[in-house]
Amino acid sequence: MDKRIKNINLRLTEYSLGNFNNRVKVSPELDEVDAISSGINMLGEELKAITISRNYFTNIFNSVSDMVFVLNPKGIITDANKSAQEQLKYESGSLIGKPISDLHGRDQSYFKNILKQLKEPFTDNETILHTNKGEIIPVRINVSQFSDQMKNQFILLTATDITFQIKAENMIIRAIIDTQEKERQRLAKDLHDSIIQPLSGIKLHISSSAFLAKSSRLKSNLVTSGDALNGLIIEMRNICFNLMPNTLEEFGLVKAIQAFCSRFLFVKKTKFKIEQNCKLPDFPPEINIDLYRIMQEFINNSIKHGEASSIRISFIYDKKNLKVILSDNGKGFDTKEYRKGMGLQNVKSRVKSHKGTLNIVSSIGKGTRYTIAIPLNIQI
Ligand SMILES: Nc1ncnc2c1ncn2[C@@H]1O[C@H](COP(=O)(O)OP(=O)(O)OP(=O)(O)O)[C@@H](O)[C@H]1O
Ligand SMILES: [Mg+2]
Repeated sequence: MDKRIKNINLRLTEYSLGNFNNRVKVSPELDEVDAISSGINMLGEELKAITISRNYFTNIFNSVSDMVFVLNPKGIITDANKSAQEQLKYESGSLIGKPISDLHGRDQSYFKNILKQLKEPFTDNETILHTNKGEIIPVRINVSQFSDQMKNQFILLTATDITFQIKAENMIIRAIIDTQEKERQRLAKDLHDSIIQPLSGIKLHISSSAFLAKSSRLKSNLVTSGDALNGLIIEMRNICFNLMPNTLEEFGLVKAIQAFCSRFLFVKKTKFKIEQNCKLPDFPPEINIDLYRIMQEFINNSIKHGEASSIRISFIYDKKNLKVILSDNGKGFDTKEYRKGMGLQNVKSRVKSHKGTLNIVSSIGKGTRYTIAIPLNIQI
């Protein structure tokens, strides 16, 4: 065989193996074989350029710390970068061909719904992905569409692990809540020591003066003043109780909630039913105070907005979780469209700081049911 044809053959073999560095020699005669050789050399240059840019993008694809997935329009993974494989604990290449919905685990329809309405790029602040070992990673996702040169549609989905961000947020929320509670405690103590105690002293003084008074008019005036002062003291005690119920520390969560409810029993004639599936253990103070505040908010809402005449509170404890359900027979509200107040927002923050969940089921005319679940890690 012509030495030059052999050379062409050798280069083509090299190209098929991914080596595009060598070229075929082209002689000055420029005959037909030289023309073919030039074509082969051009092919080599072209393949080298394509390989360099493909490697360049593959390197970028694999070196980003976010998980990156390429999906077909049906939501099947056609490519996933190294971070996705590593963070989700899959063997190399084994994510390919999987429906992205499988990674959400809890809610199969989550990604399906996003992909269905994907006209604009979509960002979700918080969702979850499941690893191959069943662990849950909280993530923020970005989803957008693109098409290749052949006009095939693809979806680019990036997921950022936000575990540390959530931890930091929870620490900040916790610090704010703890400072708030300490301040309330200080205020309650100050009010009690500097105002209620002296007022009680004055009341005693007025009572004994009324007892000693000779004139019946003066006696009656002193009794009226004593009664007014008594009303003021009761009101001040109520304020102190709302700021920091002493029953909470002394007798625990359920008793403190019972004491809070009994106040409404007299004023509003609301019926309360409080039940528990077993004796509750002593929860850490931050769980106690948070659940107490949350129940305060729910009860206030049920009475103020729902005008409920009956409220049922259930504590369900099973060593790993504490579930508290409050249901009222009030007016109910549209949970999709309602005026968002500070109350439920604070409840969400408190629940979030314990990695718990809040669920509200309500519809107009049918009452409201709030469910809180808090994972516990208490040594009993
Ligand atoms: N149990 C309930 N029954 C009827 N409506 C409710 C109930 N709970 C909440 N809502 C509705 O949800 C809204 C938001 O409640 P949220 O506690 O966040 O704010 P708020 O009570 O209006 O104000 P704040 O709690 O800050 O004093 C209420 O204004 C009310 O319309
Ligand atoms: Mg409220």
